[in-house]
Amino acid sequence: MTINIAIDGPAGAGKSTIAREVAKTLSFIYVDTGAMYRAIALYVLKKGIDPKDQLSVCENCKFAQIELKYENRKQKVLLNGEDVSTEIREEVVGNVASVVARYDEIRKKLNVLSRRLAETTNVVMDGRDIGTVVLPKAEIKIFLTASVDTRACRRFLELQERGENPSLAEIREDIRQRDYQDMHREQSPLYQASDAILIDSSDMKISEVVDEILNICQKRCQI
Ligand code: CDP
Ligand code: CDP
Repeated sequence: MTINIAIDGPAGAGKSTIAREVAKTLSFIYVDTGAMYRAIALYVLKKGIDPKDQLSVCENCKFAQIELKYENRKQKVLLNGEDVSTEIREEVVGNVASVVARYDEIRKKLNVLSRRLAETTNVVMDGRDIGTVVLPKAEIKIFLTASVDTRACRRFLELQERGENPSLAEIREDIRQRDYQDMHREQSPLYQASDAILIDSSDMKISEVVDEILNICQKRCQI
């Protein structure tokens, strides 16, 4: 039997940073499901498809083969055999991902991949609907959040460190819009599962959040 840890929450809450650390400490695999939605978004952008045209996105995306590969536990996302792990990190790709993630056909296709991994490996998986839809029986569910301002500041600093010249106001607006889209869509909206533990990381350091989750793992699963 495998152990599954689900971490959900809005953009910039710290999910990937924290999930990666927890997975490393426990020697689990970290599965970033957002990367798959981003890979679909990249395909849509490259093909010049209007992301809002559901029929066209779903028809065309039948030809987008997504694979997750792990080398030394590090995740790589392949789109039709090509490693797109770096390309998918652009802000525009994240925004389009949030649009195409509304479509049930896309979600079903990606959920199959996520579940297959969780059945065969101990995973820390992050996303928006992991505890509610993808792995409803996950042993541990965390809902990680932080205020919009904190999340916007974190993204701003991250982009500055990458040598970009971002606008804090634009990032804040993007995050606000993405929150709205993710929480109000019909299919698998973002919300806290009734059995998930809420962690608000607005005033917490990365190490404090990681320690809190590791304590929960120790108490619940003796790992
Ligand atoms: O995956 P998600 O969009 O939820 O967030 P992330 O990419 O893991 O984190 C966004 C940024 O916030 C990163 O630069 C993290 O280093 C930073 N962060 C932080 O400063 N404090 C935390 N408690 C969590 C994340
Ligand atoms: O890193 P960040 O939080 O900015 O986003 P991400 O996890 O890379 O996900 C990009 C977009 O994919 C999100 O805004 C969601 O709309 C969508 N997504 C989803 O719907 N369900 C998931 N399990 C993961 C991501």
